[in-house]
Amino acid sequence: MEKKTFYITTPIYYPSDKLHIGHCYTTVAADAMARFKRLTGYQVHFLTGTDEHGQKIERRALEAGKEPQEFVDEIVAWIKNLWKLLDISHDDFIRTTEKRHMQAVQKIFKKFYDQGDIYKAKYEGWYCTPCEAFWTERQLMEGKCPDCGRPVELVAEESYFFKMSKYVDRLVEHIETHPEFIQPVARKNEMINNFIKPGLEDLCVSRTTFKWGIPVPFDQDHVIYVWLDALSNYITALGYMSEDDSLLQTFWPANVQLIGKEIARFHTIYWPIFLMALGLELPEKVFGHGWLLLDDGKMSKSKGNVIDPIVLIERYSSDAIRYFLLREISFGADGHFSEEALVQRLNFDLANDLGNLLNRTLAMLKKYFGGRIPERGETGAEDEELLQAALALPQRLEQFMDELQLSSALAELWKFIGRANKYIDETAPWALKKAGQESRLQTVMYNLLESIRVISVLLLPFMPQTPKKIWQQLGIAEHKELHTWESLQTFGRLPAGVLTQPGEVLFPRLELTGEGGAPVRQATKKDKPQPAKQPQKTKEQKTKETETSGLISIDEFARVDLRVAEIKEAEKVEGADRLLKLIVDLGEEQRQVVAGIAQHYQPHELIGKRVLFVANLKPAKLRGIVSEGMLLAASDDEGNLTLVTTEAPIRAGSKVK
Ligand code: MSP
Repeated sequence: MEKKTFYITTPIYYPSDKLHIGHCYTTVAADAMARFKRLTGYQVHFLTGTDEHGQKIERRALEAGKEPQEFVDEIVAWIKNLWKLLDISHDDFIRTTEKRHMQAVQKIFKKFYDQGDIYKAKYEGWYCTPCEAFWTERQLMEGKCPDCGRPVELVAEESYFFKMSKYVDRLVEHIETHPEFIQPVARKNEMINNFIKPGLEDLCVSRTTFKWGIPVPFDQDHVIYVWLDALSNYITALGYMSEDDSLLQTFWPANVQLIGKEIARFHTIYWPIFLMALGLELPEKVFGHGWLLLDDGKMSKSKGNVIDPIVLIERYSSDAIRYFLLREISFGADGHFSEEALVQRLNFDLANDLGNLLNRTLAMLKKYFGGRIPERGETGAEDEELLQAALALPQRLEQFMDELQLSSALAELWKFIGRANKYIDETAPWALKKAGQESRLQTVMYNLLESIRVISVLLLPFMPQTPKKIWQQLGIAEHKELHTWESLQTFGRLPAGVLTQPGEVLFPRLELTGEGGAPVRQATKKDKPQPAKQPQKTKEQKTKETETSGLISIDEFARVDLRVAEIKEAEKVEGADRLLKLIVDLGEEQRQVVAGIAQHYQPHELIGKRVLFVANLKPAKLRGIVSEGMLLAASDDEGNLTLVTTEAPIRAGSKVK
């Protein structure tokens, strides 16, 4: 049978500055898609690259006192390294300064000219250099660029123009008859209403006032407009207009062209028109995703280290960053980035949900079966739902991925992780052990391990490193046949008798107590020494730590303001199975806290309990709710948890020391 093909592209990045964490979204999302398709058996071609010409780059190079080529070479090397650190699995990386691209773009320009799509005239209008975009007087917003809000420059030069008007009707018809072409639908309406309906002007496609671009082959004073140059990368990388265009034959038209919403205009109006003029098919889908924003607005380099992807990867790992990006930006919408939000996601989803499932299961397996995967024994009423959910999961995820709902796909996977955690509570393996129900215990442990395997395989496209670590711990690293899509079609492939190898905690909990609010890992016994860069500590702190070899002084302990708190109100947090929102009384004041105890206590059971409470914890936001403080609770490896209460009644607010 012929292999199904899948061609996915990201925009090519401007190497004008180092990239920030927001930039990484497009590429990480495309990578997850590419990996998912490979997993499901497609022959995938995944393209990314850099957009190296234009006035913006020329100016930045000049400011840096470098030749443009030298300037971009350095940043491109940095970008390539970033993609390596983020486990981006592109099949090709195209640079617009490469010969293969430049030659083909010149041929494309010549073809347009020869067939009468391009004519020469005088251009007078506005230009936004950061966006490399032409604007008419009417399109400006308060005299500034309507896309980025920055000042525009008046340009008056002789230029070549592309006759957009010739193709606009065909474009509108295509958009109307192919609802999947521009996604999400909101972007389609925006394009039609804001740009096409008011009348699409012919596009200026050459410049003469600077040199850093691809020369017009028959008029060397002109360089080709950077967007015509850049957009062509999606086909020049496949060998269009070259001697070998076999990739083009195999992969064009693209299945998905992933872009940020601000460049939708170029990709859903100019790009399809250029393709029509070349006589090529249009891509199946152009998806304009939302932005990752900071609480105070758009990301920019001036926001410093917090948004430097390399710093973040070193601090949290590539898989953790990938997870956050893919989970935080939901279908077509914007998402928010802060280190607090990142740490919360990692603690809740990775450390608690996923990490605990693995750790609890392996710890119980060790205790009950010496760590060896048992045969399945007696089935029970709790099994059916888990098994059905596991079997349905691959197709459910595939559906979400085909709709580019990456965040929903992850949410679905996490729903199953929650299901598996609940299975532990429902079946209570410790009670089965106590009651001597060995055969049932075997089944429960087996089902949990197999569920973890299912999760690990489906996690592969999103977090490529984590599954390998899970397989290592499950003892199936060498069993390649258990890492496949096909292996998920039946439940029960995990071989009995294999010895598991519990190892390092995959996602240690982090807390936001480092200097300047930077998070640090909470050490656990099983934790390996932290190789990643820790937030800088003062000299004084370091000496203190060395002197006490990890022990804390009574003064340090006294910094924790421990109090007795009486629980006054408790309610479930909507959409979060584990959280309760509580109001506690500290004598002189009341506080709101969010506690991860919903699976252990019903809200009404808590009212009136006097618990131990950390009163001077930095406030944090959990699922959008402010939490000011923390209840103390004890928990064991078997999933039991109990709040720490006072032995005898004592006034709320009393100090604990
Ligand atoms: N060079 C053009 C694209 C040419 S494609 C033929 C360009 N480059 S870019 O470097 O500015 O942006 C690359 C990608 O990063 C775009 O998809 C853009 O939307 C994305 N992002 C930049 N900042 C972003 C966020 N803050 N959040 C999410 N994506 C963001 O545009």
